[in-house]
Amino acid sequence: MYSRIVGTGAYLPEKVLTNFDLEKMMDTSDAWIRERTGIERRHIAAEGETTVDLAEHAARRAIDAAGVRPEDIDFIAFGTTTPDLIFPNCGVLLQQRLGCFGCPAFSVETACSGFIYALAIADKFVRAGDAKCALVVGAETLSRITDWSDRSTAVLFADGAGAVVLRPSSEPGILSTHLHADGSYKDLLYCNGGVSRNVVDPARARGTIAMVGNEVFKIAVTTLGKAVDEALAANGLDKSAVDWLVPHQANIRIIQAMARKLDLPLERVIVTVNEHGNTSAASVPMALDAGVRDGRIKPGQLLLLEAFGGGFTWGSALVRL
Ligand code: COA
Repeated sequence: MYSRIVGTGAYLPEKVLTNFDLEKMMDTSDAWIRERTGIERRHIAAEGETTVDLAEHAARRAIDAAGVRPEDIDFIAFGTTTPDLIFPNCGVLLQQRLGCFGCPAFSVETACSGFIYALAIADKFVRAGDAKCALVVGAETLSRITDWSDRSTAVLFADGAGAVVLRPSSEPGILSTHLHADGSYKDLLYCNGGVSRNVVDPARARGTIAMVGNEVFKIAVTTLGKAVDEALAANGLDKSAVDWLVPHQANIRIIQAMARKLDLPLERVIVTVNEHGNTSAASVPMALDAGVRDGRIKPGQLLLLEAFGGGFTWGSALVRL
């Protein structure tokens, strides 16, 4: 028994913030941001618009694409680091919106690899026969934890949501997933807000993102390179088997390094970082949805999904659509 992605969906908030808008807010330039990151614009949630609001749109689109009904969903795995509430978790809040009461629903808090972690967990439940119609979501409102006075991070992060529906299948489907974490790097990328260990002013308890960008960059390239090798080796596949790379969208230079590693031209890589910025757990499912909906990714093709984020946490999924 395998699990198979049978529908994808995505949603971006309406408000667009361009690099030129940022030039007016801080000491930066469109040229610097484009050269160093590949980002041209990003979407920012409206006042009062929450992570679950974005996720609901993405989830309904994935459910429609899968040809199932919201009440058919029997498992919800939700990747996010910007939850609406401490509890109930975003999976439960989304379940309430969709009306699929009773099924397990939880959130996974592994920063940018949140969707890959959620996908890996859902895949195992479907394969075990414990879920027949699983909804996997990655959604964020990172603008809420962005330090808008720090140009080194404020130009990077953004908001959005992506989702997929998984169903059981006798044919793969998801061939394999691999998850990793290394907490020895916890100080290179983190959000300094919290509940139990509140290191900032209690009035600003949610904190803001802090990152040692150039260190993260180097480790991300090496680590993701190993993750690509691991995914292919586990399936006895050569890199030439991969039709599409669907990477985490943090920086075009990291994406280009992964494409070179796979000998894939950039035309075989789904790139949304220019339009979306870094949306953390939402980035991979939104990129996947973009490729599926515009017809580039076709049924039967082999996709390599990968992500890397704060922790560090990272992971991959090799998927036949
Ligand atoms: N506008 C203009 N200049 C900026 C800037 C901005 N928004 N942000 C930083 N700079 C400046 C720095 O102050 C520094 O100036 P200096 O040389 O005078 O000291 C210079 O640009 C270079 O900074 P550096 O941080 O070394 O740049 P970089 O080439 O590493 O690019 C990142 C910065 C953040 C784009 C890049 O490191 C990156 O993408 N890192 C990984 C992000 C990531 O993958 N996150 C993990 C997954 S979520």
